[in-house]
Amino acid sequence: MGQELAGKVAIVTGGAGGIGRATVELFVREGAKVVIADVDVAAGEQLAASLGAQALFRRTDVAIADEVQELVDVAVESFGGLDIMFNNAGISCAMFDRFLDDELADFHRVMGVNLLGVMLGSQRAGRYMARHGGGSIINNASIAAHNAGFALMSYRASKAGVVHFSKSIAIDLAEYGIRVNCLLPGHIVTELNSFAEPGSSPELAQRLQQALDPVWLSNQPLKRRGRPQDVAEAALYLASDRSAQVTGIVLPVDGGITAGDPVNHLNEIMKTRARVLEG
Ligand SMILES: NC(=O)c1ccc[n+]([C@@H]2O[C@H](COP(=O)([O-])OP(=O)(O)OC[C@H]3O[C@@H](n4cnc5c(N)ncnc54)[C@H](O)[C@@H]3O)[C@@H](O)[C@H]2O)c1
Repeated sequence: MGQELAGKVAIVTGGAGGIGRATVELFVREGAKVVIADVDVAAGEQLAASLGAQALFRRTDVAIADEVQELVDVAVESFGGLDIMFNNAGISCAMFDRFLDDELADFHRVMGVNLLGVMLGSQRAGRYMARHGGGSIINNASIAAHNAGFALMSYRASKAGVVHFSKSIAIDLAEYGIRVNCLLPGHIVTELNSFAEPGSSPELAQRLQQALDPVWLSNQPLKRRGRPQDVAEAALYLASDRSAQVTGIVLPVDGGITAGDPVNHLNEIMKTRARVLEG
């Protein structure tokens, strides 16, 4: 067991599930004290209980400024400071809706959690860190910030906002010794990235997953399913002193999706070219 984060205090928003949960578990293993912030009380309390004295749960809606301020206060009061803020909580929007059918309420909901939530977490943690020698802020965006494309318009826009916001405040906060970096997860198997209908059986969810896996992987150079732990490892690097000279970066954890055209696309072009040349 390493101790990359020994003596550090971290907050992980959306820490009760998926990527957040994997990060909480890794940060605790690496010696940090961690406040788990989430709206899912049952999952958050259960996770905190399983981790003992190094973790505590605080119900927090990241889109509500007062709750985010209380979250920062709880970390400082309970664990004596705040060194790492992982603004990870995020939600998706109606996946298959066309833009002209988008509901205004859906747009506000997605922007509220994904962009306002990141802004509030960065500002409230940043105010504390600026007075106490600095820290590391990590904001979870998505490859959807990099790749414009069909569907998920509000989600894509919110995540693009997170990237630009993070780079801008990285410059603004550098004089306080606060580093700000962004993660771009690709396809990571979690609740958020699932095609299962709400309330569907585990069997149906598994069948959908099996059928859709090859489709997901078709635009990904590394033919391996992304796991929450993959993103947690990148968050650990940005949280630890190993990245002391790193601020304002955008780090994809995506199996190469944002690198460019995948080989199967190029193969199709080459096969088509050969067909035409052969007459
Ligand atoms: N899973 C992926 O493929 C993927 C890809 C790119 C980016 N991401 C991003 O990674 C982050 C985590 O996603 P995940 O896949 O682990 O999702 P998830 O749904 O498994 O977990 C998200 C957690 O956030 C919590 N949450 C939701 N709204 C909240 C709020 N208002 N305040 C506090 N907590 C809230 C949920 O209760 C849940 O525990 C998100 O920002 C997401 O956009 C995920």
